[in-house]
This record gives sequence, structure tokens and C-alpha cells, in this order.
Amino acid sequence: MTTTTQTVRQIALEQPSSIRVFEKLGIDYCCGGCKPLAEACTANRLEVDAVIAALESASHIPELAAVNWQNRSMEELVNHIVVTHHAYVRNELPRLVELAQKVVNRHGATKAELPQIQAVLARLGAELTQHLDKEEVILFPYITQLERAGTGDGPRPEACFDTVASPIAMMTAEHDAAGALLAEMRRLSQNFTTPQDACPTYHAFYDGLREFEQDLHQHIHLENNILFPRAIKFQSGR
Ligand SMILES: [Fe+2]
Ligand SMILES: [Fe+2]
Repeated sequence: MTTTTQTVRQIALEQPSSIRVFEKLGIDYCCGGCKPLAEACTANRLEVDAVIAALESASHIPELAAVNWQNRSMEELVNHIVVTHHAYVRNELPRLVELAQKVVNRHGATKAELPQIQAVLARLGAELTQHLDKEEVILFPYITQLERAGTGDGPRPEACFDTVASPIAMMTAEHDAAGALLAEMRRLSQNFTTPQDACPTYHAFYDGLREFEQDLHQHIHLENNILFPRAIKFQSGR
């Protein structure tokens, strides 16, 4: 049973179906998910009782009752993140960059925000690509090996850092930076609102950015709120 004093992050962890509701209502469950539900509702000018009712009804929709990754191994979670979210970012970024170029070519002269959004997207793309590489090449193999060693299935991992907390702190800071760039694009586009006379490419670009933001929120939630705390706890033996 959801209560108003639970943090948004706790609710997202215990009830995966809540994520869809939080996304729809614009409640941050990812980098800023440490607020109690009541406070998050006030900040978003939402009635807390209505939000609890929406969470309750979402929990009964089978397709939303997604896998609870808290109960799976870290290796399974890492594989899921790479195959689902990293693959999505790598496929979607070039498409968004292409759409950005098209809308800037056609409408950039009259819509000053479009070249600005294009520049923010280029920066986000460059930073995210490096970020995914670091996770896939260094951090994720380390976590997988750490977990296997803990169950007697292989040697302890070796790395250039003392504990897993060091690269995790770096990855978390990079998540905050990516979140800030997404928020900047949302602000510049007035919540991805297309003008009345917008062409299909304009719609496709803003719809794509909105979906990209949603996927990145889910992706960062799995890392910040589930994988990273578990890896730190596992290594410290707590
Ligand atoms: Fe990732
Ligand atoms: Fe990440």
C-alpha cells in the first residue's frame, strides 16, 4: 500500500508499474526521487490522493507490472540495461541528430530555439556515448565479476580503482549532467510542444526527444537506484 510519506524512489523500486504513472505526471523518480510522495505532488501541483489512486490502478495492469529487478542478479540486470537501454540510445541518437538537422534546415531561421536544441542534443550525444562505453568496458564487467567471485564462481576482479564506489560516483555525476541537458531541451521546446503549423518531421523530432527522455529516466533509475547501491553493498559485505 502506497503512503504519502514514502519517497518517490521507494515507490518506483517496490512497484515498477508506478514508473509509467510518474512519467506521465512529470514526477521525478530518478535523480531527484528522494522526496516524499506528498512533497513531490505539491511541487508538481498534483492532488496526492489522485496520484495514489492512479498508482493503485496501474498496479493492476499486467503489462505494467514489469520485472522487479531488485529480485534478480546484478549480472541479469546489467545484461538487461545493455541490451535494452544502451542499444536504444545507440540506435536512437543518430536518428534524432538527423531529424534535428532537418528541422533546423527548414525552420531554424524562424524558430530560434531549434538550433539551440540541436546544440544541446549534440553535447548530450557525445557525453552519453562516452558514458555508455565506460560502463560497458569498465564498470559493468567489474560488477559482474565481483558478483561471480562472491558466489565462488571465478577470481576477484582487478581494476585501477580501490572500490566500486569510485567509478559509481563518476557515473552518477554523469547521469546528473545528462538529466540537466534533457531538462534544458524540455525547457527550450516548452515541454516538447510543436507549433500549430508544424510539419511531420517537427512532430517526429519532438516525439523522439520525449521518448528518449523517458527511456533515459528508466535507464538511470535502474542504475542509480538499484544496480549501484547493490554493487557498493555487495563489495563492502554489508
Ligand atoms: Fe547505462
Ligand atoms: Fe549510466
